[in-house]
Amino acid sequence: MKQKNNITVESPGRVNLIGEHVDYNGGFVLPGSIDKKIIIELSVVSGNICFIESKTVKKSFKLNLKKISKSKIQWENYIIGVLYNLIISRNLKIKAFDCKVDSNLPIGAGISSSSSLVCGLISGINYLNDLKLSSDEIVDIVSDVEHNFIGLKGGIMDQFTIVNGRKNKLLLLNCQNRDFKYIDSNFNPYKIILFNTNVEHNLSDSSYNKRVIECNEALKIIRKKYKKYKFLVDVEEKVLYEFKNTMNEKVYNRALFVIQENKRTIKSAKKISKLNIKEFGEFMYNSHFGLKNLYEVSCKELDFLVDFTMGYKEVIGSRMMGGGFGGCTINLIEENFINDFIKLISLAYLNKFNIELNVIHVNIGDGVLIKK
Ligand code: GLA
Repeated sequence: MKQKNNITVESPGRVNLIGEHVDYNGGFVLPGSIDKKIIIELSVVSGNICFIESKTVKKSFKLNLKKISKSKIQWENYIIGVLYNLIISRNLKIKAFDCKVDSNLPIGAGISSSSSLVCGLISGINYLNDLKLSSDEIVDIVSDVEHNFIGLKGGIMDQFTIVNGRKNKLLLLNCQNRDFKYIDSNFNPYKIILFNTNVEHNLSDSSYNKRVIECNEALKIIRKKYKKYKFLVDVEEKVLYEFKNTMNEKVYNRALFVIQENKRTIKSAKKISKLNIKEFGEFMYNSHFGLKNLYEVSCKELDFLVDFTMGYKEVIGSRMMGGGFGGCTINLIEENFINDFIKLISLAYLNKFNIELNVIHVNIGDGVLIKK
């Protein structure tokens, strides 16, 4: 069948139920793609000049496919990074295109708007040029763009979820080898609600990368004695304990969190499969406290939102989600209490920080789709 020259790509954001900051340590994560998306309209044009326009960030720029180099404007690098990878690193032939980006995915909320943009763009270019890139290759290209163009040394959770997501299914993904299975996303009578602190974090900030470095440092120290460990998540807690007095305290705490969070994630998948939502909710709280106290990636706004839920039995679980330092909390709230609870927590948040709280209702939706 002949390739079309105009397509629309729908690329979702993602939530992560549990398994935070373990993807780059070879751990298990439990994310799902959501029904909030970036919409990318792509049409092939003649010549070498692409025109890219984003309604979301209210920016546009022209790009010559024969002269690709990094931009000083970070947003442009998401697009340029993709083309650099395809044209320069992979030596692929790409037709010039016009690209219009629109979105109902809030930026900086920790629901992966940037990975969504990159995944959607690669998937669209893949289709228009019949490149036959596999899902794994798309995941790799997103990593390359994020690591080398944006400066974020993130793991594969976001892009893997956006590419492989399915309606009403979570992915239990082993980030060591990319094995995964779908798990029904059924939390009845609870629904997933995100509360956006509206405190913007910049993930490429050194703080995220610093955690990556600290985890590598912990593994390096452990491997001097125990060569068998290839990933930090595989170290038993009792083995880590042997290093308690010799390892820098922060590095030790990072490792402890990662090891515990990975175990929680594996157990969580079982609890969710067995519809044991209450016990899963407790894991969510424990995950948050680990992220706050051991991993130190939370902030006062996120902590306030999580603490506030603890006074209400209708909220079964709550924690910060994503890279941290702002963004959203993810909550499981009894369906018929959601509206009342939103009023209560929004008012409390406004009173405390003088910041408007945004509420994001999410359903688990499909991964990237190309509409021809
Ligand atoms: C960001 C990164 C992911 C992951 C999360 C934390 O979203 O892009 O790879 O590390 O933070 O779990």
